[in-house]
Amino acid sequence: MEKLVITGPTPLKGEVTINGAKNAAVAILPATLLINGTCTINNLPNISDVKISCEILEKLGAKITWNTPNEITIDTTNISTTKAPLDLTSKFRASYYIIGAMLGRMGEIEVGMPGGCKLGARPIDQHIKGFELLGAEVTVEKGTIYAKANKLKGNNIYMDIVSVGATINVMLASVLAEGTTIIDNAAKEPHIVDVANFLNTMGADIRGAGTDVIKINGVKSLHGDATYSVVPDQIEAGTFMLAAVATKGDLIIKNCITKHLDSITAKILEVGGNVEDNGDSIRVWCKKRPTKANIKTLPYPGFPTDLQPQMGVVLSLADGTSIINESIWESRFQYTEELNKMGAKITAQGKTAFFEGVPKLYGAPVYSSDLRAGAALIIAGIAANGVTEVYNLEHIDRGYENIEERFRKIGAKIERIKE
Ligand code: EPZ
Repeated sequence: MEKLVITGPTPLKGEVTINGAKNAAVAILPATLLINGTCTINNLPNISDVKISCEILEKLGAKITWNTPNEITIDTTNISTTKAPLDLTSKFRASYYIIGAMLGRMGEIEVGMPGGCKLGARPIDQHIKGFELLGAEVTVEKGTIYAKANKLKGNNIYMDIVSVGATINVMLASVLAEGTTIIDNAAKEPHIVDVANFLNTMGADIRGAGTDVIKINGVKSLHGDATYSVVPDQIEAGTFMLAAVATKGDLIIKNCITKHLDSITAKILEVGGNVEDNGDSIRVWCKKRPTKANIKTLPYPGFPTDLQPQMGVVLSLADGTSIINESIWESRFQYTEELNKMGAKITAQGKTAFFEGVPKLYGAPVYSSDLRAGAALIIAGIAANGVTEVYNLEHIDRGYENIEERFRKIGAKIERIKE
């Protein structure tokens, strides 16, 4: 078992460079199944979710060459099976993108129900509704999803809720379908635009990604033979921005798209932090104790649920009582119990949590329940007095590349220890 041992408090100072976005990468990789040929993807984060995505593609018949730790060339000419490996697909959430991509490529797929962070119920009814409206038959039996289509045909699909996964999955299935598909009430996250940009670079005809209506004109084939660079990770950038505020530090966060960070910038200014937007980098600093603020998580461009726990650390140290309303996931306050072990005063009731700010947190052994909870506990450990041990690192390694090394470079006293 591994743990991170952090000795605080340390104000983080210096420069950090943001990697490619996990949630774009885990969709772009299956999207390569729609190409009958080769393409190169760079700025890929070197994280376990990306490695598992690559293993699944290899099991389906793709050939992958790692040119560098952050770049692969992938040849999807010979896809040899329509059965995805159940053991691998159940390891993470984004394995559901295999369904849309393989329906488009092979007209058929058998895949295990997706795994991933335990954030409460994570239904995929909107994905299935979209596939069915495109002409597929979908059945779910004993934890396995079977999807089949003789011919996918474009259709108008209204999403009952705004879903990142369903929007991307239906987009994947409709790229090679006959005719036009319109996705209404689509999600608008930067990674949706990135997947559409990737597919368009390879010859697809997708318009409107980033708005709530996406129009996909089906094309006969995608050509490959191109290189694509994954968009910088909005959530990773936000994680370091909030780490700068929680530790009363001063960070320059490089390689980010600052427009994607507007909702985070707004909240940092509201709690008394400072933000300087330099186009492709952002400086965040905070000299005093943050003040209280209320947050409601919302689909993009609202405040992202994937930064709610990291913001929770800032608010647990703020002057005054703050309220966070989590509107996306049923169960994303598990980290608050761990922060309370460190001296925080948080009461979580269903989808709402009350943060009675304390002036200091104190080191303690804590357990990450999911990826972003893990990031929050690291930030808390760096801000806290004394020694914090963070356990369950497998969650954190799913989404952050070399997390301890990158925090160490900006001053954190943090070590990964094997027990
Ligand atoms: C994506 O999950 C991200 N994962 C999550 O990131 C992120 O929290 C979430 O979007 C919201 O931004 C990936 O991109 C791999 P949704 P996804 O479909 O696509 C409900 C992280 O830490 N819903 O947008 O699974 C659902 O229950 C993670 O990086 C349905 O009811 O999320 C939720 O309440 C964790 N039916 C809401 O919609 C459906 O068919 C939004 O979910 C689909 C979703």
